[in-house]
Parts: sequence; C-alpha cells; structure tokens
Amino acid sequence: MKRTLLLLTFVLVGMFGRMYADEGMWLPMFVDRLNYIDMQKSGLKLTAEEIYSVNNSSIKDAIVGLSNSPTPNGYFCSAEIVSDQGLMFTNHHCGYDAIQKHSSVENDYLTDGFWAMTLSEELPNEGLTASFLMKMADVTDSVFSVVSDSMSAEERAAAIRKKTGDLRKSFNDDGKYHVVIKSFFEGNEYYLFVYQVYRDVRLVGAPPSAVGKFGGDTDNWMWPRHTGDFSIFRVYTAPDGSPADYSPENVPLKPKHHLPVSLDGVQKDDFAMIWGFPGSTDRYLTSFGVDFNIENQYPAIIDLFGKKLEAWKEFMDADQKVKIQYASKYAGVANTWKYLIGQTRGLKRLDVKSKKEELEGRFTAWVNADEQRRQKYGTVLSTMEKGYKDMSEAIEPLLYTNLAGMGGADIVGYSMSFNGLKELLKPIEKKDLPKDKDIAEKMKNDRSGQIAKAVEGLREGAKEHFKDYHAPVDQKVLAIMLQEYYNKMPVTMQAPVVYKMFNKYKGSFDMYSQNVFDKSIFANESRVNAFLNNPSLKVLENDPVMQLSSGFMAKAMETSGGFRTAQSSLTGAKKLFVAGLREMQPDKVFYPDANSTMRMSYGSVRDYMPADAIHYDYVTTMNGILEKEDPKDDEFIVPSRLKELIEKRDFGAYGANGELIVCFLSTNDITGGNSGSPVINGNGELIGIAFDGNWEAMSGDIAFEPDLQRTINVDVRYVLFIIDKYAGATRLIDELTIRKAEPKPLRTESL
Ligand code: ARG
Repeated sequence: MKRTLLLLTFVLVGMFGRMYADEGMWLPMFVDRLNYIDMQKSGLKLTAEEIYSVNNSSIKDAIVGLSNSPTPNGYFCSAEIVSDQGLMFTNHHCGYDAIQKHSSVENDYLTDGFWAMTLSEELPNEGLTASFLMKMADVTDSVFSVVSDSMSAEERAAAIRKKTGDLRKSFNDDGKYHVVIKSFFEGNEYYLFVYQVYRDVRLVGAPPSAVGKFGGDTDNWMWPRHTGDFSIFRVYTAPDGSPADYSPENVPLKPKHHLPVSLDGVQKDDFAMIWGFPGSTDRYLTSFGVDFNIENQYPAIIDLFGKKLEAWKEFMDADQKVKIQYASKYAGVANTWKYLIGQTRGLKRLDVKSKKEELEGRFTAWVNADEQRRQKYGTVLSTMEKGYKDMSEAIEPLLYTNLAGMGGADIVGYSMSFNGLKELLKPIEKKDLPKDKDIAEKMKNDRSGQIAKAVEGLREGAKEHFKDYHAPVDQKVLAIMLQEYYNKMPVTMQAPVVYKMFNKYKGSFDMYSQNVFDKSIFANESRVNAFLNNPSLKVLENDPVMQLSSGFMAKAMETSGGFRTAQSSLTGAKKLFVAGLREMQPDKVFYPDANSTMRMSYGSVRDYMPADAIHYDYVTTMNGILEKEDPKDDEFIVPSRLKELIEKRDFGAYGANGELIVCFLSTNDITGGNSGSPVINGNGELIGIAFDGNWEAMSGDIAFEPDLQRTINVDVRYVLFIIDKYAGATRLIDELTIRKAEPKPLRTESL
C-alpha cells in the first residue's frame, strides 16, 4: 500500500507469481499499481482503466453505498447498478428495514414478498440514499502540513479538524458533491472522497422472507446456506439527472456504468472480485485489544442483547402485528449478538492472541535492535497495555448505562428526543434577559417560535416511533434491563434512580415498570400528542421515564470521562504501532483497515475444510432447500410455488445439468457493510451478491484466516430464477444486460 514500495511490489509479484491476495481490502485508486498484475494472473480480463477510472466509465461507477443520511459518513450496506435505468441489486437483509416499513398485517411484504410490476408501483423510501464515488485523492501531506510535533494531542486533533473542513469545502463544487475525509492506517494517512448522493431510492422487488431470509437466524453466519438474500431498488433523479428528493416527476437514473449479468456460473478457482463499502475491521489490533474485547467488552453486550431478544421473541411469536413491527430491530440485534458470540469463539479457538503476541515479540526485538527506533517506538506497546487496562476498568459501567439504560427499553431512548424541548421550556432567567424591553420581548417571541418548531418535529417523530412500537413488550424489556443493570452494576456505580426504585418497589422491577407505563406520557401516542398540544416543563420533569433517562445520562457523563481519556491515550500509540509495523516489513504490501470507504477484494471461488475430516463444497443447490424444509419452523418454510418449481425442476435458463445453484463460496476478504456487494468475474460481469461470512472464521475482522475464511454469496442465477420463474417480474429481467457463453458443463470435476 505504501507508495514508496510500489515498484518493489511489481518485482516481487513478477518473481514469485501468485501473491495470495485473498486477504486485503484494497483502495480502488491503487489497484492499478498494487494489485492489477496479480489480478490478471488470477483471471481478470479487464484493463485497469475499466475497473477504476475517474474520467471514463468503470466498474466503480456501478458500485453504490447505501445510507439513511443525505450526507453519509458511512454506509450500512453496498449495492450495484444492473441496468441503464438505475436498477440496483442489494441483499434482502439490506432492504429489510425498508421492506418492513412498508409492511402491515394486511400488506405483509416481509412474508409475501413485493414486486412492482410497473415503474409507478415502485415504493419511495424516506431517508434512504445511494452514494456514488466520483473520485478520491490522497490528502495526507496537506493534512499533516498543519500539525507539528510540539502540539498536544488536542491541538493536533483541532488543527486536523479545521484543515479537513477546509479541504472538504474546496472539493464540494458549491455543494453539488458530498465530500468525506477519512484517516487510514490509524491516522498515518488521509484520503478524500467525493460522492454524488441520490435521495430518491425506491423499492422495486423483494422475495418472501422464506426465500430472502431462508434459514433465518439459525443459518445466519453459517455455511452451507440456501438463502436468496437479495432485494431490488431503483435510483431516481430529477428530470435533468441531478440528485433530488422524492418527487413523482423524478426519472430513473442514467448510470455511467451498469454491471452485465453472467449466466455462466462459477467453477472452483474462478477469479472473483468484490466491490463495496466494508465498515470496519481491526486487523492491527494488539494482543491487549483481543483480551479487552473478549473479557471486557463483548460479554456485557452479548448478555443484554440476548435478554432483549428473548423478550421480543416471546411477544413477536404471539402476535403477527408485533412480529412485523419488531422484525427489523430484531434482525439487527440478533445479527450483532451472534456475530459477537462467534467472534469470541473464533478468537479463542484460533488463538488469535498468541498470533498477535508473536508479532508483538518480533516488533519489540526489531525496536530494541536500534537506538533511534527505541526512541521512537520504545513505549508503544507498554502505552497500549496500560490504555487497555484503564479502558477495561471503565467500560463496564459505560456499557450497562448505555445498553441497559439509555438504549435498553425503547421508551427511555425515545424520551431523550424530548430533551431539546425540555431546555426550551425552561423560563429565560431574569439575569439573561436584556434590559431593553423590546429586545426582551423579541427574545421571548423567538423562544415561542423555537418551541413550536420543536413540537412539530416531535409530532412527526411520534408517528414514526409508535408505528413500530408495542408498549407491553417494551414494558417487559424495561423491567428486564433494569434488573440486569441492578444485578451487574455495583450500587455505587448505578444511577441513583435505579436503586431507589428497587427499594421503593420492594425489589420488583416488574411492578415499577408497570407503574412507569401507567404514568408516563411516552407510553403511547395519544398521551404524547396530548402533551404536545400543551407542552409543560413540569410534566416532563415529573415524568418517570424522563427521570430514568436523565439519571442514566448523568451517569454516562460521569463514567465516560475515564474511558475516553484511556481511549485517547491509545490514539498516538496505535498510529506509531502501525507506522512501525510498516517500517519493519518493507517488502509487505499493506492494506488499510476497513472504514466505510470503497474497497475492492479479489480472490477465487473455493471450498473449505471447517474441521478435521469435514469438507464443505463451494456450492449449494436447490436440493438443500428441500432437505432443510420444515413447515413447522418459520425459518425453514418453503413456499409452495417454489417447491413446485423445484420438484418439476423447472429452472429455465438458470439451471445447468438439471441443478440450480443457490449460493457459492469465495475467498474474498469482506466484512459488515459489504453486504449487497457485487461478486464480479474476470469479464466484469455479475455472478453473485455477497451476503455473509462463515462461522469458523468469525474472528476474521481481527485476523484474516486464509484457510478458513470465506465469503458467502447468492448465485446471480438463483436471483434471476426467483425474479423470473418464481415472481414473474419479467420486465426486470428485460432490463438487464444478460451474457451467456456457449453452454458448457457446470463443474469440471464429476458430480
Ligand atoms: N450476517 C449477515 C451480515 O452481517 C446478515 C444476515 C442477515 N440474515 C439473518 N438471518 N439475520 O451481513
């Protein structure tokens, strides 16, 4: 990655051939220099210009970052443009929140799927945006020109903030573009990204969850997989092609590039590249950091998330309406919960700590071998050790205050959205009022205006909040979260309101919670609206939920200081550690940790051995869907129409040799945020959509495991089969650029 090492890379690749670059999330701007030759050797047929170019259309122009913000700093998922009319594929689990928001018991698109049969049936999604990368640039020198060694950490941070702000302004072309600057390699480099952000993104199609989420949370993070994890959206623009808010006048985007779709399928060792927006990895984490995660950070999250899921599930199973209301929240928490359990297990099993210690041992030896290095890097690891120790002491109260308190029951977090209004309702104190009567009068009037505006905002917010809210389940969650908070936090660390209520209600948080929901204005929409018709400071101050959230907030302020100090003591050490590692291994090509910027990962289609004597094939077929079928378990229901097609083996153009491939594995290095990313073959054609990682390598975000780590992809032929044969949405198939070579056997080895 380092620019001065580029030439050397060429020589090494030339000498040793394949570089094993399955590991690595590469910045598109450097692919030509760092990876291109190796990619060609592995099967890439495109020119470097065809994959990344600022001036001509290239693969990068078909890659989309999905966000819920008009000015995103990161992306929750990736997507790809697949037609010249802005049609876009992503995962079902990426579209899940949008699909859920459009769903009701009467129109249950989660259960039944959704297919717009005309453009006019496509559904707008408020807030959802699609970002395209226009260009990126290295601004490291420019950013570092404003800092010096004599500055304190705070001065440094402030100077960098000011400089990056100026740079962002100078690149946004009068607000036409959205500009983001991110630090790489733990603050050793800075890059600037210029995006075009489109704000009218509509839902076009989604399979039923029995396809898009087949296997549910049981199969999540696991192989073998049989999930048709895709959904379809379309990007719209103003009639002149510029980004615009939703309007019926808007028209489908004319993209610079769209990916053609290949029906040729995958074979073992085929070249595969994945483009998208991986969110975050921690590949340069030290052994101290590994310990901190396993011992101090994850257990509390796993504990609280697990308890919350259990409560939600009970109510969801009992009531279809609640099931729809809580589907998206549930899926998100369940996904993270299982991820953290899997990561903990992976870190232990694969003994990642020892691997890190081995590297740290080499680092220490290298540092000690030279006086100058000792000066520069001598205290890096001890600073790191101390920082993590301090953090580990401070994090537990913070986690419980945040996750059981403010973020525990939804009602607590919701009440916090009224804090702004609460401040405005406080009378302006005499001493703050100007002497001039007229000015004083104006000030009071302004205040009324601000209050009216806040009230309007909260009214809108209430609609949204209560649409997916069921008070009885939240009442239960509140009791459980408070109980857990009370059990796990030493009394001296608790927000006083919690132990006071514990005593007042004789140890029954159930009774307390019942009382809270009986009294609080935040428990239902009509109370909130009645309050907003006549907002009063006193009502807010006396509300039991407000008292809870204020108590937790005060506690969080109190406990976060120590944690933040410890955390910031790590900033400098992390930067030096990575700088030192790069200096120590001058021949190694480094890639930066994922940080929600566009990356390319390349590798190949490949099977694996998850454990001794077990071999996992690299594809799954329709047969596995029937093998897993269980009509009594809603994670494994097979819709009758799908069953019929499978039994008739009616696969149309999408099958081969009487089989239909559902999912396949590849060796690409991806992480959360990459969901929905295109898997692209050597000709630049779409062969699949990436959607998951595998259980045996859940520690992969911290240490890549070449033998075990795989990306799970849904085969694009299964996607097209569902659109075409299952849903009959042929207008969408007609939009695609479909490519098929001469018929050839699906797999070279005998089946
Ligand atoms: N593990 C996937 C990811 O993090 C999400 C899969 C969603 N599927 C599910 N059954 N919850 O991207």
